[in-house]
Amino acid sequence: MRDWQADFPTPRGASTGAILELGCGPGRFSRYLATRVAAGGGRVEALDKDPAMIARARQDFGAVANLTFLRGDALDVARPDGAYDLVVAASLLNLVAAPARLIAEMCRLVRPGGGLAVLIPTPHFDAQQADRLVRRLRLAGFSAAALAAWARSAPSMAPTEARRLFAEAGLTDIHVHRYLDGAIAGLSGVMPGCGTPPL
Ligand SMILES: C[S@@+](CC[C@H](N)C(=O)[O-])C[C@H]1O[C@@H](n2cnc3c(N)ncnc32)[C@H](O)[C@@H]1O
Repeated sequence: MRDWQADFPTPRGASTGAILELGCGPGRFSRYLATRVAAGGGRVEALDKDPAMIARARQDFGAVANLTFLRGDALDVARPDGAYDLVVAASLLNLVAAPARLIAEMCRLVRPGGGLAVLIPTPHFDAQQADRLVRRLRLAGFSAAALAAWARSAPSMAPTEARRLFAEAGLTDIHVHRYLDGAIAGLSGVMPGCGTPPL
């Protein structure tokens, strides 16, 4: 999992970086992002619609100074237009019933010149692929069980479909990265307009 975390774009310099993570779940990735931008004064807001997830995230990572957890709907976020330098969603685009609406809301929330990044399980990510990865990466215990459970339960999305959604939303500089033998794809794009690109 480290590859895609390390590749995830963060605002250049991150000195004033405001990042929003949608569908943050238990907040482990939110914590990673917050740690990564802390030195530059960047801050992360992480949102999930499930109150139990937010409660758990606050319990585990509530002490991280530059990280705030919010309960809300990723399709209708109570924040002004252009409030963030970077909006990210890991394993959410593939879940929502209206992915184009999610991308539209992410675009509304990011400033001109800011960035969007998503992570999706691809159609390659099935039980056999998870088994192979568990063996190759020598995963055990919780990590192995979590990967297998994710492969069983996650609806997938083809990277070409996600790329099409990014392009139709008018994003530029679209990049597709593949991780874990193609089981996971990460996409990034830039919101056109003036401003320093975050990527
Ligand atoms: C598969 S989990 C991913 C969690 C986390 N991003 C990660 O990668 O570990 C998907 C999360 O999205 C949340 N979610 C689903 N639909 C949502 C929505 N419309 N608004 C906000 N959160 C949503 C779920 O509650 C769940 O916590």
